[in-house]
Amino acid sequence: MEKNQPFGPTENAYLQDNYAPIIQEEEFKDLEVEGEIPAQLNGKMLIRTGPNPRFKPRDMKYYHWFDGDGMINAFYFEEGKVRYKNRFVQTKKWKLEDKANEALFGGIRSGMSTSLKGWRAIKFGFFNLMLLGLRTITGIGPTKSQYKSIAEIINAANTNVLRQADKLLAFDEIGQPYEINKEIETIGKHNYNGELRGPSIAHPLTDPFKNEMITMGYNAYEPYFQYYRFSPDGKLKQYEPIVVPYGVMMHAFGMSENYIMFYHMPAVFDLKNIGTRRPFRWMPERGTRIGVMPRNGTSSDTRWFDIPTCWVFHNMNMYEEGDYLITDVAKYERIPLLDLGTENPSPPFTLDPVAIMVRWKLNLKTGKLEEETLTDDPVEFPNMDERFLTKKQRHGYYVKLKDGNQKNGLWNTVVHRDFELEKDDMYCFGENYYTGEALFTPKFDDSPEGEGFLLNLVYDLKANKSKLTIFDAENVSRGPIATVQLPRRVEYDFHGSVVKMD
Ligand SMILES: [Fe+2]
Repeated sequence: MEKNQPFGPTENAYLQDNYAPIIQEEEFKDLEVEGEIPAQLNGKMLIRTGPNPRFKPRDMKYYHWFDGDGMINAFYFEEGKVRYKNRFVQTKKWKLEDKANEALFGGIRSGMSTSLKGWRAIKFGFFNLMLLGLRTITGIGPTKSQYKSIAEIINAANTNVLRQADKLLAFDEIGQPYEINKEIETIGKHNYNGELRGPSIAHPLTDPFKNEMITMGYNAYEPYFQYYRFSPDGKLKQYEPIVVPYGVMMHAFGMSENYIMFYHMPAVFDLKNIGTRRPFRWMPERGTRIGVMPRNGTSSDTRWFDIPTCWVFHNMNMYEEGDYLITDVAKYERIPLLDLGTENPSPPFTLDPVAIMVRWKLNLKTGKLEEETLTDDPVEFPNMDERFLTKKQRHGYYVKLKDGNQKNGLWNTVVHRDFELEKDDMYCFGENYYTGEALFTPKFDDSPEGEGFLLNLVYDLKANKSKLTIFDAENVSRGPIATVQLPRRVEYDFHGSVVKMD
């Protein structure tokens, strides 16, 4: 097959195959459709983001998947027709590199490859650079202020894109989101009227029942965790620094009707490791814990529970039942993608540990955590009908790898889990087809839970092209009810949303 190596021969898994970037920004109208686009999708758009380096990385060997510029891929459903468009998020980094017509900055494992022109562009003068160099060589790492400038540049808005009130926001987790418009042009950085005091993770959660949006930030310095509650229109209701003993990566959190669950898992994030090949360090000896705080509580109200070593990027939902907090998570034995040695180039995702789907039942009276395995196939991207977030969900969705290997790609099967029937309704795309996150959208605003559609981007390895598949979410095993063919591939991405265009 074609290797898709736009920047030349490379051993780096994230610069070839379908991880390799699509450099051109394009628009394709009236795409070829097999089957029929459900009329209920009219007026909606599927919007996704993922990492996609615009210029040849300065360090091809240590380029990391998470470094790529955010590329928005949008599908518009307009009167039975489908239009596709892709645009870069014009972040601070994107704009500076656009002006220079080359990459200026290194990434999370290759900070040292930033060019002098790059340092100058972010106002690092001679003495500041000398200080940074000395601090890095002696193992102290950047100052807080130096790190903030670096994080602002690393922020690529490449992880998630979602709608909050009337705004479309593209998130990274190391910085603040960028607002884009419906035609996916960048408007600018969004910091909730200055209320966001640091970064926001890429998985803020909106409670559909309580008029509330909650987000968090994690830092390599105190406060290591920051907790925010907003009204849906972006007014701050509560800010709370959460006291934890050291910084770690926290990609998402759990939210039930009354509680928040923090993940303090041992992917240690310390200023002294910034600028090295291993900015995040897997240190299981430090312990793995989850914290439970009342949603309107304070850091000191948080109860911490030690649990066996594990790593979680994503959960499906969290709800309360009697004394229990119940949440379904994609659980790894250790962190994938970032658990790296100093000398190895970024290893393909395929060689990393895989996640399995488990149900956690935390007894808030006894503090005991019970775990039940839902599937031990490799899974990711658990989610649900978000109109019912925080309630006991009957329907959940995720993708898994069935009867295959991950040699060339990601997952190949869409799963609808019916928790009431304890049954999986699934569809496998077959050999040489790979997919990522499946997104649910309801048929009508007032449809019962789970009545709607699942949308997936699928990569056809042999044809080197991508397609968008649309499933009836209540009958996934029947196969797609509509398939939208693209004239080219879309690079593997992370997350997105199905939103109304009004
Ligand atoms: Fe994520």
